[in-house]
Amino acid sequence: MTPVAALVPPRLPDPRSVVESIDSMVMFQVRGRVASVTGDAVTVQGMTAPLGALCELMPPDAKPTLARVIGFDNTRPILAPLEAISRLAAGDRVRLVSNAMSLRVGGSLCGRIIDAFGRPIDGRPLSEDLSRVVVSHTSPDSLSRPPIDQPLQTGVRAIDGMLTCGIGQRLGIFAGSGVGKSTLLGMITRGTNADRVVIAMVGERGREVNEFIQNSLGPEGLKKAVVVVATSDRPAAQRLSAAMTATSIAEQFRDDGHNVLLLVDSVTRFAMAQRELGLAAGEPPTTRGYPPSVFNMLPQLVERAGRTEKGSITAFYTVLVEGDDQNEPIADTVRGLLDGHIVLNRKLAHRGHYPPIDIPQSISRLQNQLVTPEVRESVLKIREHMVQYENSEDLISIGAYRAGTDPRIDSAIAMRDPINLMLRQNSSDQTPLADSQRLLVTLAATPPNVAAQMIADANKRTAG
Ligand SMILES: Nc1ncnc2c1ncn2[C@@H]1O[C@H](COP(=O)(O)OP(=O)(O)O)[C@@H](O)[C@H]1O
Ligand SMILES: [Mg+2]
Repeated sequence: MTPVAALVPPRLPDPRSVVESIDSMVMFQVRGRVASVTGDAVTVQGMTAPLGALCELMPPDAKPTLARVIGFDNTRPILAPLEAISRLAAGDRVRLVSNAMSLRVGGSLCGRIIDAFGRPIDGRPLSEDLSRVVVSHTSPDSLSRPPIDQPLQTGVRAIDGMLTCGIGQRLGIFAGSGVGKSTLLGMITRGTNADRVVIAMVGERGREVNEFIQNSLGPEGLKKAVVVVATSDRPAAQRLSAAMTATSIAEQFRDDGHNVLLLVDSVTRFAMAQRELGLAAGEPPTTRGYPPSVFNMLPQLVERAGRTEKGSITAFYTVLVEGDDQNEPIADTVRGLLDGHIVLNRKLAHRGHYPPIDIPQSISRLQNQLVTPEVRESVLKIREHMVQYENSEDLISIGAYRAGTDPRIDSAIAMRDPINLMLRQNSSDQTPLADSQRLLVTLAATPPNVAAQMIADANKRTAG
């Protein structure tokens, strides 16, 4: 008798992926030869291939290296290697592999760490149930996008309360290095109510990637996340691909009907990778050495997030800003492309105020359409206290302000500790969105002197 197991029908590949694979297949061999190598740019003669196509550089006695078409020198394609080149000489053979990159995607990618090509780098093989999809570069039609009208929980009180973010919204996290970006991303991953999280780590050092996965994310965060990594030692084309790959995975999850959270750390390093490629392809440098293609690429990346009829991608892009550099072109461009920005402030971090979110400097442009009028008014009230305190901080700190001179400053001083108590949060704690908003409304409705007294009493109790 046939054993029952043999009667289970074989799992067929997803028909979509078959059609797409056929579309991108190269039906005959296209071959050329390396004409010249300049830095990271390999010029090829004797063949042509479309922009973005994948080729293999084939030195006679080394393993083939993948490379991507990034431009043309007259009719000759310019390739950027996607992997480190061990050995390459003019005249070496080049072969067109595919007109587009494809990836294996599916729910079982959650909990896995993969590279820019979708290959696992956590030492285990990928599960068999993944379907192959072609990496596309198209964004959803802007007219078919449903409005963003539901809040997404991050579990971080400062965000859910003061900077509420919508399902399908795109925000920037602006911060210098070492201020607390990775810790915040880890907190959000663990605290969010998104169905799935996709994290792109672009251009970080290997040590930072390990720390992020072990400490900031932890086993609980990793369980629901797919982490796509291209460390700083990888070729520029691979770093660039990592952000694209993560976005493609998020798109696939969105098409499957999920609410996805996409975290890209950092978009600055993504732009730097494109700068390397653009310059290698012969583009002229413009602002700060960035070629025009960088400013073309950023909207292409960011526009792929958002809500569609099927699902959503809510995206956080981290942007590196050092000091108060207002002329940093990447920060400037990204700020203009997104629906809000969260600024992390080093001064707050130094004071031990974590997460170091600078509320007066930050904004979620869609918050007003996501919260009740009551929450909206409470946010305004708390913001007013914070801005008032900031404006008078110099006077207050040198003791030049006399209580009773200005009732608004008096309130701001009284409310300072209660507000900070709400905003500060241990990185291992998660607060449900409804609780964050309830706390905010209660705090805004409490008279300043009463709130201050409550904090003072609580402090006395813990001290005594
Ligand atoms: N929420 C937090 N609670 C306590 N310490 C934090 C918190 N966030 C950041 N830190 C401190 O700041 C350091 C750098 O944080 P990290 O998230 O790695 O910054 P970045 O990713 O911006 O370089 C951490 O090692 C930690 O000491
Ligand atoms: Mg970091």
